[in-house]
Amino acid sequence: MAGLIPNDFIDTLLDRTDIIEVIGHRIDLKRKGKDHWACCPFHHENSPSFSVNASKQFYYCFGCGASGTAVKFLQEYDNLSFVEAIEELARSAGIEVPREEISEKSKQRQQQRRTLYDLMGSCADYYAHQLYQHPNATDVQQYVLDRGLSPEIVQTYQIGFAPQGWDNLIQHFRSEPTNRALLKTGMLTQNEQGRVYDRFRHRLMFPIRDIKGRVIAFGGRVMTPDEKPKYLNSPETPIFHKGHELYGLYEARKALKDFDNIIIVEGYMDVVALAQHGVKNAVATLGTATSETHVQRLFKLSSEIVFCFDGDNAGRRAAVRALSNTLSELKDGLQARFLFLPEGEDPDSLVRKEGFNGFMQRVKKAQSLPDFLFQHLQTQADVSRLDGKAKLASIAQGWIDKVPEGFIKQLLYSQLSSLVGLSVEQIQSNYTPAQPMIEAPEPPPQADYWMPDPIDTYSNDDHYPQRPRTNHHDISGKKLNVRIGFVHRALAWLIRFPMLAEQVNLSTIRKLPAQDDHLLLAKVIELLQNAPKKDVYFAFDYLCQHGLRETLAPIAASDYLWLEAANEDHQDEKEFARRELEKIITALTHRAPDDEYESLKKRLNERDPSLTDTDKQRYRELLKQRKQ
Ligand code: GTP
Ligand code: MN
Repeated sequence: MAGLIPNDFIDTLLDRTDIIEVIGHRIDLKRKGKDHWACCPFHHENSPSFSVNASKQFYYCFGCGASGTAVKFLQEYDNLSFVEAIEELARSAGIEVPREEISEKSKQRQQQRRTLYDLMGSCADYYAHQLYQHPNATDVQQYVLDRGLSPEIVQTYQIGFAPQGWDNLIQHFRSEPTNRALLKTGMLTQNEQGRVYDRFRHRLMFPIRDIKGRVIAFGGRVMTPDEKPKYLNSPETPIFHKGHELYGLYEARKALKDFDNIIIVEGYMDVVALAQHGVKNAVATLGTATSETHVQRLFKLSSEIVFCFDGDNAGRRAAVRALSNTLSELKDGLQARFLFLPEGEDPDSLVRKEGFNGFMQRVKKAQSLPDFLFQHLQTQADVSRLDGKAKLASIAQGWIDKVPEGFIKQLLYSQLSSLVGLSVEQIQSNYTPAQPMIEAPEPPPQADYWMPDPIDTYSNDDHYPQRPRTNHHDISGKKLNVRIGFVHRALAWLIRFPMLAEQVNLSTIRKLPAQDDHLLLAKVIELLQNAPKKDVYFAFDYLCQHGLRETLAPIAASDYLWLEAANEDHQDEKEFARRELEKIITALTHRAPDDEYESLKKRLNERDPSLTDTDKQRYRELLKQRKQ
């Protein structure tokens, strides 16, 4: 075994490395202002939001948050281990990697230090063993029989049994360092008094594996209806990120060469039962809605995804959510379809009744994404009426525009065109967003189309998803498309120079008329006043943690700023930014009465039922002011 690479060598190597060269060698970087930019290699996008900063020797994607040093880039992009990435950098720099001699003792220690992965593997082995060996395993064995699981499938998915008791794992491993590692992986948990005990007790255990087959987490099911929660999952840990992983992906991947698609279902039991009946290409999310990350991962493995949902309202809602998260990933050559099961059935129950052929027959007939999209949209607009057609044309556009440029997008537009009887050009040229400055492509926040946000349906195993938001002035969780204008420019400067937020008087911004873009600006300023501002990227991450990534990423990456800054040829960029921001805010406050007047007038003309007497009074005041 080769010795360790000395730390000071790594430092020297990094000093000699230029991240622009390393990344520029692999993707096409364009210089804009101080940074270099490209379309992000780690997520799909049509305009660049991936930036590389030479002075910090750091890359950062405003669109997906990918970030790091040259080493990290090589690890991710070239799929290298840390050591391989160092070796690669040394090769390009033309220097040899020295190795330290390692002592016998540290070698031993290294070997003894069991990785978290190994430990999770051992837990899975332990649980699997208990399923057949534990003196009180008769109940669980009966449960497995009742659920119709074959011994082979139990073995393939390494399904196991966590016995009753608080310290089974502790007793099994009997080592302090291991206990600490078990706490890290969430297998042990600690109460307020500091007592450490087994997280999973008296449950049927499903090991969750990563794509390489390593056990990274568990899901545990109770065996009687009155125990709660029905499923308990491992918490987020250094090796497990719930929103990213899919149950059964490792097993499905092996089978994918025999199938044309990958099926995404809702439950552990569904995956296992389908596999037992030969449908080996199914995976499940872990109690969360299907996210864009899930869809991205699956499209890397298969060109077709079939979403499989219950036929009830909850299933429809989940499907709409999945639809919305698929559109942006739908490059030409990829397909998504939707399969709705009869009421009261899930894939588990259905495949037991209808077998492999019956189930595959249904998969074959699953609805195409365009069909489902237009069917869904037509629940919101009645195309047998003229005004319904107009409504459809306008709402459909927000959805279709999420699709990357290509044939699919064009075809969706043609289909829309034939449904509403307008040409594609007419539709696109007449598109006015629902609100003056903001386009909101998300479905309206009607209770019926609401899905819990963030995507986790069972955060902390609380059975009750959050209530829908009804306040339409609350911009959180909405994707807003801020058009180029004052607010857009103000946001761009704030993102680039988060410190400036400190100097803005928040109450001035809050006094602007309650439009979405003003609310957004106020929210960004408020957040930035509290954000860690050591660094642009920290501050931006903070905004993203508050759900603003989708809205702000395009602004962060917009390039007119750099042009403007470059033209001016100013000395102090920050001072320049400060003056710009000041000008914009003055303009906004100055312009406010006009905006307010226009928006009230529009609402009056449209006989907006939510218009109050105070609003009408305010309109008359503004009208009078204008006439003076
Ligand atoms: P069975 O009831 O065993 O057939 O499981 P299922 O897979 O059909 O479960 P269901 O349709 O109720 O739920 C689908 C998935 O949602 C499960 O596989 C879990 O991942 C998740 N889930 C369901 N109930 C809970 C819960 O109480 N807590 C958590 N964390 N997840 C749950
Ligand atoms: Mn079920």
